Amino acid sequence: MTPGTIACKLEGSNTPFLMRIFLDTADTEVIRKYFSTGLVDGVTTNPSLILKSGRNPEDVYQEIVDIGVTDISMEVMGDDLDMYDEGIRLYEKFGSVCTVKVPCTREGLIVCKRLSEQGIKVNVTLIFCAAQAVLAAKAGATYVSPFVGRLDDQSVAGLEVVRSISELYRIHGIRTQVLSASIRNVQRAIRSWYNGAQICTMPPKVLDQMYDHILTDKGMEIFENDWKSVSHD
Ligand code: E4P
Repeated sequence: MTPGTIACKLEGSNTPFLMRIFLDTADTEVIRKYFSTGLVDGVTTNPSLILKSGRNPEDVYQEIVDIGVTDISMEVMGDDLDMYDEGIRLYEKFGSVCTVKVPCTREGLIVCKRLSEQGIKVNVTLIFCAAQAVLAAKAGATYVSPFVGRLDDQSVAGLEVVRSISELYRIHGIRTQVLSASIRNVQRAIRSWYNGAQICTMPPKVLDQMYDHILTDKGMEIFENDWKSVSHD
């Protein structure tokens, strides 16, 4: 760790407790490729992403565990009893890498409270306003996932929701972390962190775009050409 960075490192996390990056995909080959960069701190999945993978959810989770990812959001469905039982089963099978993902509904928050009281990490998903984030924090959520892109689609400023949740949590000393989701471009990721989110979960293509700048490409072209003309004798 370079001098000056906060020495607080989450157990099992690749990076210090700062601006963490999660991949929002259930494509294990893609996860394997990006995880090898050392810059990915976790993975979020949901039923639509699992469907897209064309695979059994638990095979996908197991492969992500085998890759070495230490924080994997696994979504549970059904009524509160179904979600609770499934959450317990997933936690027993996968251990502390399992973050149970529940929707921000009455049933989902009942499950969140019961699981979090047992020390199981819970990601409350489908958050669209600060009021929901207050309830999720009171239910003991480890993470809340405001959906920035889906809010933007409705002409509501998703980043403003991220900002108000982060500010509320800061004012009241809440430990629940803001996991900005439904991120469609680099600007939304950067502004999410700027607005107080601890984590952004993003599709692999957005992570790819974070590397890119036209001036880096141009600069490399010049350096490479000049380097060829340098005498190396
Ligand atoms: C978050 O956990 C969700 O899986 C995801 O970010 C939703 O993104 P979308 O709105 O692009 O489907």
